[in-house]
Order: sequence, then C-alpha cells, then structure tokens
Amino acid sequence: MKTTKVMMFLLIGLLVLSGVSAAAEPVNITVATGAVGQELEISREAAARYMELNPNVKITVLDTPDMVQDRLGLYLQFFEAKSPEVDVYQVDVIWPGDLAEHFVDLYEYGAKEVAEQHFPEIVENNTVDGKLVAIPWFTDAGLLYYRTDLLSEYGLEPPTTWEELETAAKKVQAGERAKGNEDFWGYVWQGNAYEGLTCDALEWLASNDGGSIIEFDGTISVNNPRAVEILEQAAGWVGTISPPGVIGFAEEDARAMFQGGNALFMRNWPYCYSLGNGPDSAIAGKFDVSPLPAGASGKGAATLGGWQLSVSKYSKNPEVAADVALFFASYEEQKARAIQASMNPTIMSLYQDPEVLKASPFMGSLYDVFINAVARPSTVSAPRYNEVSTLFFNAVHSVLTKKSTAADALEELELDLQDLTGLQAR
Ligand code: GLC
Repeated sequence: MKTTKVMMFLLIGLLVLSGVSAAAEPVNITVATGAVGQELEISREAAARYMELNPNVKITVLDTPDMVQDRLGLYLQFFEAKSPEVDVYQVDVIWPGDLAEHFVDLYEYGAKEVAEQHFPEIVENNTVDGKLVAIPWFTDAGLLYYRTDLLSEYGLEPPTTWEELETAAKKVQAGERAKGNEDFWGYVWQGNAYEGLTCDALEWLASNDGGSIIEFDGTISVNNPRAVEILEQAAGWVGTISPPGVIGFAEEDARAMFQGGNALFMRNWPYCYSLGNGPDSAIAGKFDVSPLPAGASGKGAATLGGWQLSVSKYSKNPEVAADVALFFASYEEQKARAIQASMNPTIMSLYQDPEVLKASPFMGSLYDVFINAVARPSTVSAPRYNEVSTLFFNAVHSVLTKKSTAADALEELELDLQDLTGLQAR
C-alpha cells in the first residue's frame, strides 16, 4: 500500500513536470543593446547562437540611441514605469553606481563562477553594496588612429605629444589640400556636448597633469591651471586642424571622416579598427593605432570606457535573462566580438589568445593602455554622475565654441560641482 502511494506521487510528479515543459510558453527575452558600428549585428548573431542552443527562448535585440545620454534617457523611462519590457540592458561602465537599484544581483544567478575571469577593476566597478549588478561585456579605452601611408609620405612619425600632433596635422592637411582634397582635416574627435566629450576632455586633462575632474578621494580638482591650459589648446584645434563641425561630432561622425580617407588622425575607441580594415573602407591597411599624445604629464591618457550587461529587476524571467547575459559575456562570445568587431574583451585570458591577437594586434601591443585607462568619477559621484558629467561637458563645450574662456568655465564648473555634490574643491 505504502509503495503504491509513493509510486502514485512519483507519477503525479512526473506528469506535472512533463505537463509544465510541454505546455510551457516560449520565454521572450528582450536585450537592449547599442548600435554603434557593428554592435547591433554582432549582438544579433550572439542571440541567434543562444536561441539555437535554447529553442524555447526567443531573444529580441532592441537597438537603442547611439549617444550615451539619449540611451540613458530611454532606460530611465523603462525604470520609472518598472517596465518588464526590457530584460537585459547594455550598461555603460559609468552607470552601475547610478542605476544599481534597478538591477538584480547576478551573484544570485550564476555569476559567482565566472566573475573572477574578468578584470577585477571592472568587476569592482560593477559591484554595488556587495551585489554584482552588471557582468562585464567589453571594455574600451581612447586610442589615437593615424594614417601610416600619409605619415611616411610626409616623413613623419606617430605623434607622442599634442604639439607633435598639431605640427603633423598642419603639415599633412596643407599638403593634402594642395593636392586637391579640400575636405581633408588633420584631427577628428568627439566634440559634441555629450558623454563622448567628457571622455575626450578627461584625456586632455589627465595627459596634462590636470587631474580627473573629481578625484578618488572626493576632491573636486577640475579648476586648475593645467586643465585651463589644455582646454585652451584643444579649443585652438577647432577650425584649424579639426573641422568647425567637430563641436557636433560623436564617435560615428569622426569614424566616417577618418574611414572615408579625409583625416590624418582620429581619437576613437577600438571598435573602429576592424571597420577601418573592412571591405568598404577607403583606408584599409593604411592606418594603425597608438596611445593618445602626452601633454605636460609626459604621458598620454586614455579614458576607461566599456559596456556591461545587467538584468532588470522588473524582468518577468530574471533566471533566463541572467543566463542570456552570462552567455553574451562568456569567453566564446567575447572572443567572437574581439575577432569580428575589435571590441576589447573583459576576460583577461583572451588577451593571450592567438586568434584574438591576430585579428586585433593592438589588444596585445597596447595592453598597458587598457589596463591603465583613467576612470571617470562615476563611483565617487554616484548616483549623480550623469549630472556631474553634464556640467563638465557643457563647460568644455562652451570653451570649444569660444562662448567662454577655459578659466571662467572651470571656475564656474567648480562652484556648480560643489553645489551638486556637496564635495569640496582642492
Ligand atoms: C563608448 C564607451 C563608453 C562611453 C561612450 C561615450 O561607448 O565605451 O564608456 O561612455 O563611448 O560616447
């Protein structure tokens, strides 16, 4: 009798279980990703690979605005509504502190086993109150792209200082224009009033011993003579070695010009490398990358960028969503990105992978640039980093557009940052 009862329970259990899986609706997961360069297509390919392995899951890859502030605005609308519409978010390295409250702790969803494969600094950046709110996906650092063919034609070396960059830019720009290319410019970069300008300008400051806006210890350092000096220098590029329109440029505008063969130098992130060598590029095989030039500090500086994946607290399927996020950020997927799209892995061992190094040699040769990249003050100013950055890039933009002198803009910025954060100036 007892045995029959047990058997019955087992049978019912089995029926329930098989009933569940047979009747289970496919799970829909929406991943909000970027669409800069090859980002969208490469994410769709990753999604296809996941779906092949998990036929019960349907992933929709949602493309989001290119500019960081616009993307953040869209995400905030979803969070405000506690919307389950997006399950997985692509999250900028500057956002974990500002957005942590909307994400699950990935340590509770299988990330414990993989976290230590990634750069510890990024894992730390993504850890808020002991919770891993984002799994690192790819990392970024600002690089100088330069035309190897033109530098050798004009008998020049890749510049190691801003002065050398200016001299080379002037010479080659004049020469190329004299040859008939009126649209040729010396240097293109990101000058629009947005997060990209914060990245470029932080590099200028750090390369000139001008600090990093707000230091790790919470001191507001931005109003200093070295920062004033380098901002004035950068403002001098607008309309001379850089097109007047550079003050409206984001990453893709600069890439279009460089990749079209109309600029000698470009500041950009690693993703431009594989596109620059692509079949429809005018400069395939004619460029290389180096660290950005140095100012008074004697060393060039690169801003730390990069993207993570977070699972929304409002997702209806956080387990599956986390599985998707961990899959996207896995060794094999990061390897595919590094090879196809020259996006830097966050998994350290991939920097020794021969196939990765063959496709993107700079990941090995410029390894130091990546590990020494300067962080934006997002942790120290969380949850107000976006406001800090907005004040900073608007101040810098006012200098680039000559609406303000650097001295005035930084003095005012210091006061605004004090008001906003309650932190003290140096
Ligand atoms: C890149 C970086 C990101 C940065 C953005 C600025 O996408 O990875 O960290 O905020 O550029 O435009």
